[in-house]
Amino acid sequence: MTYTAAVIGAGPDPENPSGEGYAMGYRHADGYETVEGVELVAVADIVPENARPFAAEYDIDDDGIFEDYERMLDTVEPDIVSVTVPPSIHADISVGCIRSGVVEAVHCEKPMSRTWGEARLMAQEADRHGVHLTFNHQRRFGEPFRRAKDLLDAGEVGTLERVEFSAHNVYDYGSHSFDLCSYYNDEANAEWVLANVDYREEDVLFGAHNENHAVVQWAYENGVTGLATTGVGAETVGCHNRLIGSEGVIEVGPGGVGASEPLRIRRDGEGWESVACEEGLHDDAFIYRGIEDVVSAVETGEPSELCARNALVATELIFGAWESARRRGRVDFPLTVDDNPLESMVESGDLTPEPRED
Ligand SMILES: NC(=O)c1ccc[n+]([C@@H]2O[C@H](COP(=O)([O-])OP(=O)(O)OC[C@H]3O[C@@H](n4cnc5c(N)ncnc54)[C@H](O)[C@@H]3O)[C@@H](O)[C@H]2O)c1
Repeated sequence: MTYTAAVIGAGPDPENPSGEGYAMGYRHADGYETVEGVELVAVADIVPENARPFAAEYDIDDDGIFEDYERMLDTVEPDIVSVTVPPSIHADISVGCIRSGVVEAVHCEKPMSRTWGEARLMAQEADRHGVHLTFNHQRRFGEPFRRAKDLLDAGEVGTLERVEFSAHNVYDYGSHSFDLCSYYNDEANAEWVLANVDYREEDVLFGAHNENHAVVQWAYENGVTGLATTGVGAETVGCHNRLIGSEGVIEVGPGGVGASEPLRIRRDGEGWESVACEEGLHDDAFIYRGIEDVVSAVETGEPSELCARNALVATELIFGAWESARRRGRVDFPLTVDDNPLESMVESGDLTPEPRED
């Protein structure tokens, strides 16, 4: 069966990605072109100058180009929609697609949403309308991450006791990092989080605030604990992902986000052993595999690994960490606030980041 797909949010220039704009719509479109059984038929973007070159690149007819995504849904009725717009409008547009009654799957970019309330609403509406809602936490599909999980599941370091990561921040990059922790820990729910943040210089990425420095400790319901350091303090953990087991340690990207060694393992009583991988920590192929998983979910009716339920675990930890900084104390889950605590602290004047100089 061939499914039709559409992208909402083409992006400006795929050749020059930055925190201002990454044109993720193109990476999703490349995924739809790569995966069998899907045809990309439409694009919606409020900026026609972004939609037109995108349509030309992917041979989308003029009648598949829209400014208004709702008109696109009504006219084209795509089976699968990618939502690759800034995080502040993920919820509005994803919920709009879900409620349209037209689509079978909404594949949205990470982080889930601007606020914790929006994240829960998206998941609730997807459930209510029987739509597959997924988030592009694509690193799950990268070889070093997959192999680390295989080593863990094979008992090479005993039983998992703690997951750790270092990242630029808990939200923009940390969304991937917390999601990987869920992946390693068999998607267990989190129980509590304790964190503090420093936000002295504005860091707005894809339109959203990100702290400069955080220390985060958390625990899952299955007893596994977590530790993360971000930003200027990232090197304290100093590893993209560390899996500490009862009989050894696995490190994915020792050194952190830009690490060149993808994977190594140290069994108790032995030294570090590098594990050869053909892929590094960053590769567009991971995105294509994620899309393949979404298409397979539509085909089989089984949830994708990228499903909203899994993404909610990571997202609760993100907003929970910021809420812990606001409350100056541990936050026990379920997290009951609806807002984005970091953004609210900036708005209230509790945090006063200076404008960035560059
Ligand atoms: N998965 C990853 O590794 C990864 C990497 C980078 C960015 N991202 C995420 O991808 C998302 C998109 O970021 P980007 O940098 O690609 O954005 P971008 O700015 O490059 O592109 C967004 C596009 O959305 C369009 N748009 C805005 N409002 C719209 C609306 N109401 N209807 C239709 N189109 C609209 C804009 O005109 C623009 O063309 C963000 O959530 C970002 O965090 C993910």
